[in-house]
Amino acid sequence: MKIKTARAVKGEIAPPGDKSISHRAAMFAAMAEGTTRIENFATSADCASTVSCLRVLGIEIEGSGLAFQVSGLGKSGFKSPKTALDCGNSGTTMRLMSGILAGQDFESILTGDESLRSRPMKRVIDPLEKMGARFSHQEFRAPLTIAGVNPLKPIEYDLPVASAQIKSAVLLAGLNADGTTSVIEHAQTRDHTERMLEWFGVETNKVPTGDGGTKISVSGDSVLKARDITVPGDISSAAFFAVAAVCLRESNLRLQNIGLNTSRAGVVDILQDLGADVEIIDRREMCNEPVGDLRVTGRRDLGEISELTVLKGAVIPNIIDEIPILAVLGTQLGGGLEIRDAAELRVKESDRIAAVV
Ligand code: S3P
Repeated sequence: MKIKTARAVKGEIAPPGDKSISHRAAMFAAMAEGTTRIENFATSADCASTVSCLRVLGIEIEGSGLAFQVSGLGKSGFKSPKTALDCGNSGTTMRLMSGILAGQDFESILTGDESLRSRPMKRVIDPLEKMGARFSHQEFRAPLTIAGVNPLKPIEYDLPVASAQIKSAVLLAGLNADGTTSVIEHAQTRDHTERMLEWFGVETNKVPTGDGGTKISVSGDSVLKARDITVPGDISSAAFFAVAAVCLRESNLRLQNIGLNTSRAGVVDILQDLGADVEIIDRREMCNEPVGDLRVTGRRDLGEISELTVLKGAVIPNIIDEIPILAVLGTQLGGGLEIRDAAELRVKESDRIAAVV
């Protein structure tokens, strides 16, 4: 591949379907009663890992590429797998499936590639064991053998790490618990699980805790009802093109159909706060997720911004996957960019801090 330096990026593109939403669409459709058609499914190896794990668990999934039809077996109707479930490189698959499998009445094994087998899983094992599931592992790393139990015990769990994956694992286990399960988060993490559960007819109750946190609850009586889904475009993929357009002065780009959920769209706010020309056009709702088009030009001279830009605290979970490309943007800012509170980047599929450096 030969790449020539560009002076501008111009045109219109529709990035692929959102990865986080695609994982959830396949999993929740499998837990639903009835058949769900999913469109604009992410063209990502991680999401293909989710589909293949679900198939090993007895879920019939027709289709390939961008469109799938999933025949759900209900929230506790998965079949005991004959082989280990290979999550490939995908942390979301392993952590969310842990929550689902904790509440199934059989034993299963979750494994993955070398990177995934080195990533921390104690964060999901701890709450799921409190709910009654049993895990075997070496030093809290995959392969994980899960002895599921149904029903699980409901818990109230204070998230020790601002992670949507842990929150989702506990809420999904809570669907198979004998009562109401709650998760308390102190910084808002992506809420695709809550939104999509609502799409499938499950009530998720959100209340402020009084100290700036939020308590999110689900009832073990909930039933998911199949409902077709079109996945919004992936803002994490769009961010690379948006930053390119912002950095190259003669750019004029339209990014179509982008998921603009506030728990994910921190990158848009940051670009706008810097004075970059990023406009949201035609805001709309798609399957309980906000979406819109983004028009981005390179009109703003970033070199003129002389103060240091600092990103830290509660915004970090909302931009966790965009920090590497924001670091590239930082090289173009006159005053530079400082990023704090982002130690989680060390334990992603790679050490993203080392990679950026
Ligand atoms: C994801 C949550 C984030 C993110 C990952 C996908 C999700 O991880 O980095 O790419 O789909 O819930 P954490 O929740 O562990 O921060």
